[in-house]
Amino acid sequence: MADLEITHPQIYAYLETTLAEEDPILREMGEYGRAQGFPIIGAQAGRMLYFLARAIQAKNVLELGSGFGYSAMWFALAVGLGGKVVMTEGKQSNVDRARDYFARAGLLDRVEFNVGDALTSAGRYRGPFDLVFCDIDKHEYPQALGVAREKLRVGGILIFDNMLWYGRILNQDDAATRAILQTTRELMHTDDFFTTLVPLRDGLSVSLRIK
Ligand SMILES: C[S@@+](CC[C@H](N)C(=O)[O-])C[C@H]1O[C@@H](n2cnc3c(N)ncnc32)[C@H](O)[C@@H]1O
Repeated sequence: MADLEITHPQIYAYLETTLAEEDPILREMGEYGRAQGFPIIGAQAGRMLYFLARAIQAKNVLELGSGFGYSAMWFALAVGLGGKVVMTEGKQSNVDRARDYFARAGLLDRVEFNVGDALTSAGRYRGPFDLVFCDIDKHEYPQALGVAREKLRVGGILIFDNMLWYGRILNQDDAATRAILQTTRELMHTDDFFTTLVPLRDGLSVSLRIK
């Protein structure tokens, strides 16, 4: 079966028309991502990240899998003065590009860059974090959930991207899909998180740490 669009294309297009004018650097980053075919979360999900971070007045955010900084830019705007976003990314070239965008946005003081394996980088921080966002390689999601459990405060929010995996969760049996299904089951049945799956873009899981 071919990959599915999670939101009906016409509804997706309508949602795009509702978006307010973006911050100019975010717009430039979005255009770069689209031109390169780089899988960023995009403005619709970006607004959700911003919304959730602002709603809990997050000041410390841990991001696993930052790419060239698009989603981290939404968080950097949300945490405000004195807030911090810990970014983790495996590729130096992506981090270099991210650093350039944050410098131009005047927000370098709100981000920390870590190059290398995201789960190892996260181990260097004691936390607790107010919000953890995970967007690394999908087969690593179960391990990322373990890291989030160690680092996230009670009352904090955990978000995973790609939890509907372009519909592959319906019929595919590979390491990435199995890991997403395992993570979803665990989040929905554990008693330390309350989770809802939001079919926005490729599906976000949003979990509140309740214990
Ligand atoms: C989907 S992209 C991230 C996009 C970003 N969250 C955004 O929306 O702007 C995933 C990124 O995670 C990085 N990545 C994947 N697995 C990783 C790992 N285990 N450690 C560090 N980086 C990883 C990849 O190099 C890639 O840049």
